Amino acid sequence: MKQSFEKGFITPHPVLILGTYDENGTPDAMNAAWGGQIAGNQIAVSLSSHKTTDNIRRNKEFTVAFATAEQIAACDYVGIVSGNKVPDKLAKCGLTVTKSDKVNAPVIDQLPVTIECKVTALQEEFGETRVVAEIVGMKAEESVLTDGKVDLGKLHPVVFDTVGLCYRVVGDSVGGAWSVGKQFD
Ligand SMILES: Cc1cc2nc3c(=O)[nH]c(=O)nc-3n(C[C@H](O)[C@H](O)[C@H](O)COP(=O)(O)O)c2cc1C
Repeated sequence: MKQSFEKGFITPHPVLILGTYDENGTPDAMNAAWGGQIAGNQIAVSLSSHKTTDNIRRNKEFTVAFATAEQIAACDYVGIVSGNKVPDKLAKCGLTVTKSDKVNAPVIDQLPVTIECKVTALQEEFGETRVVAEIVGMKAEESVLTDGKVDLGKLHPVVFDTVGLCYRVVGDSVGGAWSVGKQFD
């Protein structure tokens, strides 16, 4: 029997690591779970007041890496401390960066897959800044590719469990999309 609840939610969320540069060229990164892909080449992420938010407002460009099980402690750390208080927060958790050739933003060397984004809209609502951006490129380590495509079985991306307040690794495929359902045709 199902219980009835007053409030609902969607879970899990992707764990997105946003990479930006500040006005001095210092790289910053933050963990953002309130976001996702909203169209073929568009993403949206909801940000409160952070160093990253200021950097995105100024540069209009940023990167988004997928958090992985292997780097989960570093991915969590960048969501705990601010670059405003700890300017070397990336170095403190063992992350290094390489500047993207497509956008003025850092690509984190230790995270295998990163998309490169340009802001198309900044919407202020409910005290948050909703950043809408176009994906203009992607960097992916060869080690997580199969036949030239990103292979989640090799990447080990994590999702944010908003109920248990923990990270969970994405598991096995349980069926092909537009395929496994055909058995009922
Ligand atoms: C699991 C997790 C998810 C988070 N999701 C968001 C988010 O979607 N939006 C947001 O504004 N802050 C989010 N945060 C908080 C920021 O990552 C955090 O405040 C960070 O220290 C900001 O860093 P910065 O000031 O260097 O940009 C999240 C933190 C964690 C741990």
